[in-house]
Amino acid sequence: MRLSTRIEEMEESATLKMAQLARDRQAEGKKVISLSLGEPDFDTPMFIKEAAWQALKDGHTRYTAVPGIPELRRAICDKFLRENGLHYSPAEIVVSNGAKQSIANVCLSLLDPGDEVILLAPYWVSYFEIVRLAGGIPVELKAGVEQDYKVNADQLRAALSDKTRLIIFSTPCNPTGSVFSEQELKRIAEVVLEREDLMILSDEIYEYINFSDNHFSIGSIPGMKERTITVNGFSKGFAMTGWRLGYMGAPEWLSAACSKMQGQFTSGANSFSQVAAIKALTSTSGEVAEMKEVFRSRKALVVELLSRIPGLKVNDPKGAFYVFPDASGIVGRIINGQRIESVDQLCMLFMEKLGVAVVPGSAFGAPECFRISYAASDRELREAISLIHAFLE
Ligand SMILES: Cc1ncc(COP(=O)(O)O)c(C=O)c1O
Repeated sequence: MRLSTRIEEMEESATLKMAQLARDRQAEGKKVISLSLGEPDFDTPMFIKEAAWQALKDGHTRYTAVPGIPELRRAICDKFLRENGLHYSPAEIVVSNGAKQSIANVCLSLLDPGDEVILLAPYWVSYFEIVRLAGGIPVELKAGVEQDYKVNADQLRAALSDKTRLIIFSTPCNPTGSVFSEQELKRIAEVVLEREDLMILSDEIYEYINFSDNHFSIGSIPGMKERTITVNGFSKGFAMTGWRLGYMGAPEWLSAACSKMQGQFTSGANSFSQVAAIKALTSTSGEVAEMKEVFRSRKALVVELLSRIPGLKVNDPKGAFYVFPDASGIVGRIINGQRIESVDQLCMLFMEKLGVAVVPGSAFGAPECFRISYAASDRELREAISLIHAFLE
């Protein structure tokens, strides 16, 4: 018996791997502070749960239309227009089992073997493997901490080849928390429009966790709607990771293809989640803003504590719930009699010696960094960072 080359060549998700290591240690009775998770530590707001319960009682328990129930697609169009200046019609919307599936639908529908996809690095772990699964070639284009981890338009232009078909990025970004400004996105859009057949996937799933209060969608730039796939979802902003609900807006030729793809893999997303999601999108309840304020204050705490640690270059994230220190200053140092050869090794030492789980930056195309998720309590954050501080000193 053998497995396919496809799966043999696929990397396991580094974030899930770290979470598993943490669980293994906990099972051995050892304490672990997990700062590796990519999900809010809040429960879904009650009004959304109640809407799902009501939907179940009302009998929303059957298969739904593959691209989503019409009422939700309409609500998504309204949201895109109201909040992002994006003019989509319901036929251009596909609701999926999480934003992750939307990204997979797009790559599987758009890419032929050998097509290149530029990933603005540091990038979210799954982009790389999804592109490869679709037969595409991921091309990493990187910006370091000195550029606030944001690739600029000139770098992008220089990286394009005849085979470039798609660019993928997230704003606010996982793993860096960086937010692309309107100006930066306008310059990137110019590069896209210089070519005739280039698309860009803008992953905006952290839109509601943006401390600059200035979210801008590249698809709203004149001429860009036809070139943009706008991906979003409910997991992060509404603390609905387990509900598995994401969505995308794209030109109809592509959204129809994504719907066809999804129809063969999974069919429509969960029926009662979709009904509840309409409530989430149309509500004026303050919970989303409250969660953001908690993240904002934790971000300030984490950046302040990390900045005191010699050898780390710490960015000031404008969104999401991650901070992404550059630890290249630690590589080559001797700690506890052991020479640190890489940040990967350092992350393993944090786990083994301190019981602190973070994710190595190598998983995100930035091996000199590591990712801390501050979706954890102030107490855990203080304790973990003070352990790291003492260890590195
Ligand atoms: C940048 C980014 N995009 C997409 C996703 C996937 O979200 P979903 O839970 O909707 O599949 C994540 C989750 O970690 C993410 O960080």
